[in-house]
Amino acid sequence: MDTGAVADCATAFEACFGAPPEATSSAPGRVNLLGEHTDYNDGHVLPIAIDQRTTVSMRRHGEPGFKVHARSLNRSASFTLDAPAEDPFARYVQGSLVVAASTGMQIPTMSIFVASNVPMGVGLSSSAALEVATLRALRELIGATWNDVLIAQLAQRAEIEHAGVRCGIMDQMASSLAGTREALWLDVRSRKRRLVPLPAGSAVLVLDSGTPRSLASSGYNTRRAECEAAARLLGVASLRDVDDPRAAVGLPEPLNRRVRHVVTENARVLRAVNTGDAADFGRLMNESHASLRDDYEVSVPALDRLVALLQAHPLVFGARLTGAGFGGACVALCQVQALADVAAEVLSRYEQEGFHGSQLVPAM
Ligand code: GLA
Repeated sequence: MDTGAVADCATAFEACFGAPPEATSSAPGRVNLLGEHTDYNDGHVLPIAIDQRTTVSMRRHGEPGFKVHARSLNRSASFTLDAPAEDPFARYVQGSLVVAASTGMQIPTMSIFVASNVPMGVGLSSSAALEVATLRALRELIGATWNDVLIAQLAQRAEIEHAGVRCGIMDQMASSLAGTREALWLDVRSRKRRLVPLPAGSAVLVLDSGTPRSLASSGYNTRRAECEAAARLLGVASLRDVDDPRAAVGLPEPLNRRVRHVVTENARVLRAVNTGDAADFGRLMNESHASLRDDYEVSVPALDRLVALLQAHPLVFGARLTGAGFGGACVALCQVQALADVAAEVLSRYEQEGFHGSQLVPAM
């Protein structure tokens, strides 16, 4: 919990609504280190929380309806729990309250203030941070006994049922359970999980490719459907049940390559969790990028270029695109003292090639 951000949000709440909040809580964005497009295949993921957080303050107001203000968007909205909120950002808040009500808890009408410095629209899970922070503040306000896993599950339902995104559970679990120096290894099927420290001497660098994730939702849904079709052809409940990439050989294009990505990606997560070595970890990240580019086809030329520049840097252990892909961010594991230099050098070469990138997460 960032006490500075909590105090700041509480002060801003009072300035906005004229009385102090009764509950304030926050949750971080996340960057995924390994295990991409594996969560909806019941597989393994390894995300880590970032320093940027979303903070939510609440106060019961005893009047009909809910009011919410998002400072970073400079937008206010009103809604009830019975009809979808009109403003898309308010849908994440409203959806979180509606799924919370479905647990049987009474949700009082209230005023809500949202303050966030999680970058939006680049694949760092600003929406999961908003859902988890809303549910944490609500837990405090109404004295619910939800644990952090249940909060993540409710947050995922809010995203699927109210924001209309058919996501897996990685982002919400990462926001609810990961640390900023310890990644969350999660076996999505069994829900087995463990915090895994970053390899000694390494740090995480997150850069934006400057390319918007334009096809992210349609491409994401297509990949999910392809994985489901491949699982049906292989006669398994999900691709998690396939261990050997050779199982994909007889499948039609592109299902064979989609399966190969998922199977090899799950194996990479398990190897990364069991190595404390930054060089090994980095190699696995490089392999993951190649697999996402060639087999899963969710990269774009700008991301490939930025990742290649990172991978070629002598003080970088490995790099890959992160999140759903189709643009947005990439993640690198760097030598800890070199992070600022690597970012400056790589971004300047990227600019010379006509692209425009930026550093998304301060040194972690
Ligand atoms: C998005 C989804 C996650 C996950 C990733 C890809 O971030 O929200 O559930 O599927 O894409 O790994």
